[in-house]
Amino acid sequence: MALLEVRDLSVAFPGGSGRGSSSSKAVDGVSFDVEAGRVAGLVGESGSGKSVTSLAVMGLLPKTAQVSGTAVFDGRDLLSLPERDLEGVRGRDVAMVFQDPMTSLNPVVTVGTQITEVLRRHTGASRKAARDEAGELLARVGIPAPVRRLREYPHQLSGGMRQRAMIAIALACNPKLLIADEPTTALDVTIQAQVLELMGDLVRERGTAMLLITHDLGVVAGLCDTVTVMYSGRVVERAGRHELFARPRHRYTSGLLASVPRLDAPRGQRLQPIPGTPRDVIGWTDGCAFAPRCTAASGDCRVPDLPLEQDDDAPAAAGQHLLRCAHPVPTAHPEERSA
Ligand SMILES: Nc1ncnc2c1ncn2[C@@H]1O[C@H](COP(=O)(O)OP(=O)(O)O)[C@@H](O)[C@H]1O
Ligand code: SF4
Ligand SMILES: [Mg+2]
Repeated sequence: MALLEVRDLSVAFPGGSGRGSSSSKAVDGVSFDVEAGRVAGLVGESGSGKSVTSLAVMGLLPKTAQVSGTAVFDGRDLLSLPERDLEGVRGRDVAMVFQDPMTSLNPVVTVGTQITEVLRRHTGASRKAARDEAGELLARVGIPAPVRRLREYPHQLSGGMRQRAMIAIALACNPKLLIADEPTTALDVTIQAQVLELMGDLVRERGTAMLLITHDLGVVAGLCDTVTVMYSGRVVERAGRHELFARPRHRYTSGLLASVPRLDAPRGQRLQPIPGTPRDVIGWTDGCAFAPRCTAASGDCRVPDLPLEQDDDAPAAAGQHLLRCAHPVPTAHPEERSA
C-alpha cells in the first residue's frame, strides 16, 4: 500500500472554474499514489488542476470548494478528517514547499527562529539543541555560513537561498510526505538543478515520499520515478519516468515533450510549442478536452468521458502505462523495440 493513495478526487468551485463549456470541475476524478522513498511527478500546463489537487489533499481549499473522493494517507482518509486532526498531520507528517518562499516564510522572524520553532514543536528539543540542528539543516541544504544565516531575515537571502531555507524548514519536521508545488520555478536554471538534486537526495536518504508538482517536464526528467500528466482537470497519461520519456503516447504529453529544450538537439533547432492555449478546451463530457489543440483529433475523440486505460502497446516490463486517448502517438513495432 502506498503512503498516499488519492482516488477519484474531484473539486468544483461554485460558479465554475472558468474553463470550457460544460465542465465546471477544476479537478475531475484524479487518482494517483505516492510511495515512501519515491518521487511522484504531477505535470501539466498552468490551470490544469495541479495545485487544486494538492490543496484538496491537504484540506487547504476555501470552504466553498466542493471536494469528493478519498486521499488515504497512512491509513486515514484526509478528506474526511476533522480540521483539528488535519492540522496535526500538516507540518508534522506532511510538509509543503511552494513556488514563492516569500509567501510562506515569515518576513519579520529570522530564518533561525523559524526553523528552531518547527524543530522544537516536533521534537521537543531544547532551544540550544534545536539551534544546533537548524544550523546543520541549513548546511545540509547547501547554505554557506549557516550559523550567520540563522540570524538573518528572509529578505536578506537571495531567491535560491530562501527556497533552500524553505526546504530546510520543511525537512525540520522530518515529514513522511513532502509536497512541493513548483518548488524551483522562481529560481534560475543552475540553482534549480541544484535544489532539485538536493531534494531528490534527501527523499531517497530519508525514505520520504514526495509529490512534485510542476509545469515543466524538464524538472520531472531528473527527479521523478513516476509521472502523471494532467490536462484540464483530468489525468491523461501516467507511466514510469523512463517509459514516459521513451514512449509518450498521449498527444498532449508528446507536445509537452517536444517543447522541452534538448541538449542533444542540433543548434538553432526551434522548439515546437503546442498550438493554442489551455483555455481552448471543451468539457470532458463532450469529448477529449485537448481536441481543439490536437492535430490528430477526429470524430472518435468527441465521445463523452474517454476512459483512462492501460496502454496495450506498452512493454510488459514498463508496468503501468495509463492513457486517455482515442488516437495515441504510434509506437515502434514491438519487435523493433526489443531490437
Ligand atoms: N479558489 C478558487 N476558486 C475558483 N477557481 C479556482 C480556485 N483555485 C483554482 N481555481 C481554478 O481551478 C483551475 C485549476 O487551477 P490550479 O490547480 O491552480 O492549476 P495549476 O496549479 O495546474 O496551474 C483553474 O481553472 C483555476 O482558475
Ligand atoms: S483523444 Fe483525440 S483529441 Fe484527444 S489527444 Fe487523443 S487524438 Fe487528440
Ligand atoms: Mg499551480
